[in-house]
Amino acid sequence: MGSYVNLKVKETATIISQECLCTGVYSMWLATEIAAKAVPGQFILLYSQSPARLLPRPISICETDDRLGNIRIVYRVVGEGTNEFSGKTTGDTVEIMGSVGNGFLAPVRNTLNPDTRALLIGGGIGIPPMLGLAKSLSCEVIIVAGYRNSREAFLTKELGDAGKLVIATDDGSLGLHGTVIDAIDQEKIKADVIFACGPRPMLKGVKKLSAAEGIPAYISMEERMACGIGACLGCVCESVNIDGHSGVHNKRICADGPVFDAAEVVL
Ligand code: FES
Repeated sequence: MGSYVNLKVKETATIISQECLCTGVYSMWLATEIAAKAVPGQFILLYSQSPARLLPRPISICETDDRLGNIRIVYRVVGEGTNEFSGKTTGDTVEIMGSVGNGFLAPVRNTLNPDTRALLIGGGIGIPPMLGLAKSLSCEVIIVAGYRNSREAFLTKELGDAGKLVIATDDGSLGLHGTVIDAIDQEKIKADVIFACGPRPMLKGVKKLSAAEGIPAYISMEERMACGIGACLGCVCESVNIDGHSGVHNKRICADGPVFDAAEVVL
């Protein structure tokens, strides 16, 4: 897979709206030039206003409205940077850079057709990019979304409108009891291609499923980021093949991903 780095510049984006979807999870719409070119599976870097927090926060794009020039991010507050973003409101601004990465469809663009059954698997805060991806596909879409419990379930209505939705929760308080892989098994879901984003144990399960069933799977990897443009090697994951850039078994998530063929990365 080639490198997806373009010269990026920081931009000041205006917040159109922000709402809390469930405890600690926020949905923010931003007016930004990025909307015109962003594709599902890419992410943006958000910069804190505090000089104490120099590193940007990579956050997946949930969906875009290129007609209005807006993008939506749905993110979880996990530290002071994301806490700062969650306090912003309509009319406030935030420094961003992007869009970064290859996106889900770059490796499969010519292989999808109206008869393709696409299985979109999201876990926790890996679920938001699946909404934009589901809306962009013109084939059969099955979404399996995994949450810890019913209180932490978000975007369920919108996901249900975008495709056939199956929900799994760790405690069984909503949907099926168990992991997303358990749900796929229980529901006997068949697919021609898998797209997935979520915690590493979930991605491991997806990789195993992909290999066992012979279904190509494209997984979105997450890592802390510094430069966001492929220069610092701060965001590498282990790869099966030797990377042409660094000469080792590494892939830069920001520049080579974040979406990889599951067979290509070591989890
Ligand atoms: Fe610097 Fe990815 S964040 S190479």
